Amino acid sequence: MNLLQQIKETRDFLFSKGSMQPETGIVLGTGLHQLLNYVDVKQTIPYADIPGFPISTVEYHKGNLIYGSMAGKNVLIMQGRFHAYEGYTMQQIVFPVRVMKLLGIQRLFLSNAAGGINLQFKKGDLVLVDDHINLLAGNPLSGKNYDELGSRFPDMSEPYDLHLKYLLQQKANELGIELKKGVYAAVHGPNLETKAEYRYLKNIGADMVGMSTVPEVIAAVHMQLPCIAVSVITDECDPDHLKPVNIEEIIEIAGMADSKLSHLFVEAIKVL
Ligand code: HPA
Repeated sequence: MNLLQQIKETRDFLFSKGSMQPETGIVLGTGLHQLLNYVDVKQTIPYADIPGFPISTVEYHKGNLIYGSMAGKNVLIMQGRFHAYEGYTMQQIVFPVRVMKLLGIQRLFLSNAAGGINLQFKKGDLVLVDDHINLLAGNPLSGKNYDELGSRFPDMSEPYDLHLKYLLQQKANELGIELKKGVYAAVHGPNLETKAEYRYLKNIGADMVGMSTVPEVIAAVHMQLPCIAVSVITDECDPDHLKPVNIEEIIEIAGMADSKLSHLFVEAIKVL
C-alpha cells in the first residue's frame, strides 16, 4: 500500500467511527490541555487504535484523537503529537495532519512549547508564529509526490495564514491577552541547545526554538490547508546567562500559559 492509500484507509476507518464532520483541526502542544475544558467531547480515539497511526511514545504526550464541539463548532483535536526526536520519520509525524485534511478540516490550529531566543520574550509569553526556519534533518514532502495531496514544489512565502493571524491578533487584543510575534526555528532535539547554538539561532533570525510544528505546517501548506501556530515561551535562552532547564519545568511553565492560550483559540474558532 502506498502512502496515499494508507492515508485514505485511515480516513475511511475514522469516517466509519467518527460521529461528525470536523471543521477545525487542533494540535495540542506539550503541557497544553486546558482547551479540552471547553470541548464537549463526542469521541476519544487512542492513537494506538487507529490503523496507520504512529504510536506516541513520550510519556508527557497522551496520544488521542478527540472529536468534539467547542463554541458551537466541530473540532478534531490531536492530544499529543509525534516528534523527530522520538525516532519518527517526517512522513509519520505529518500523517495525522494529512488524515485530518482528508476528513474535511478547513483549517489547522497548532500550539507548542518553545524556548525564547528573542530576549524580549519572557517565560509564559504567547507568541504567534509569523514564519519559520526548518532546521530538522528531513522534510515530510521528500520522496514521491502525490499530486492529489499537493504540488511537488509548494510555495512557502506565507506558510501561516494571514487571515487567521489577523483574527488571532484581533481576538488577543479584545481579550487583553498579549500576543507577541516571532520566527520559530525547529530543531531535532531531544537535548536542549548549547549556548553556541542559541547564539547561532539568534544570528540566523529565529525568535524562538522548539522541536515540533514545522513538519505539520509544511504538510498543511502542501495540501493548501490554512494553518496558524502559537508558541508558549517556556524558557529564556540567553547564551550569556544560561540557566539549566529541565522538561518538568518546561511543562510547568507551559501549564501556566495554558488557560490564556486555550481562551484565545476558543474565541477565534467561535467566529470561524
Ligand atoms: N529548545 C528547544 N526546544 C524547546 C525549548 C528550547 O529551549 N524550550 C521548549 N522547547
